[in-house]
Amino acid sequence: MYNLKPEVFDFKSVQGFSMKQLEEHYKLYTGYVAKLNEIWNIPFSTKEYQDSNPTFSKMRSIKLSETYSLDGLKLHNLYFENMTGGNKVPYGPLLNAISTQFTSFDNFISYFTDVGLSMRGWAIVALDSIDNKFHVFGSDSHDKGAVWQCYPIIVLDVYEHAYFIDFGTDRKKYINTFFHNLNWDILNMRFKNYLSLLDTTRFRIVNKCPFKFV
Ligand SMILES: [Fe+2]
Repeated sequence: MYNLKPEVFDFKSVQGFSMKQLEEHYKLYTGYVAKLNEIWNIPFSTKEYQDSNPTFSKMRSIKLSETYSLDGLKLHNLYFENMTGGNKVPYGPLLNAISTQFTSFDNFISYFTDVGLSMRGWAIVALDSIDNKFHVFGSDSHDKGAVWQCYPIIVLDVYEHAYFIDFGTDRKKYINTFFHNLNWDILNMRFKNYLSLLDTTRFRIVNKCPFKFV
């Protein structure tokens, strides 16, 4: 039996957001966890899944719901983790690497902000295994625009549910407040983890990675 539990996050450490906003958002996240448990606890049965029509069927419904809830769970884990509980001052190897690739940290923030303003679901800074460089991916929902074999470093939720209670339609102010809460210990750890994967897996597909964790 699957009984996955929601992660616990230190919302008291977040500045510029009300507890009401964060707790309402957290409720949605716990819903994805509950639904994923429900889906993964459906027993495998050949007879059950013979209804597998690609226009409308039980199997189709299960498969679409599975990726939606699983991506929703993972993205919210990453989002809440990178905006709670730690060092809010940009520093370290990740700051150096991002500033180098995007010419300056301000340029990076400006570009990331514009991606966040242009999407309906997520803006995600990731290192992609094709070129081992930073990319800012955008998606309109948990399971649309997802990129496989990339490694998420900064995850920003731009669904209206993430900010509307506190910021109304001022998404730019929300994104700016989010940046000021980023936990740079977590971000640097993710960067380090990606680089360590390069030595142990086939993540390095085309180009030698230009970054070192220094
Ligand atoms: Fe969300």
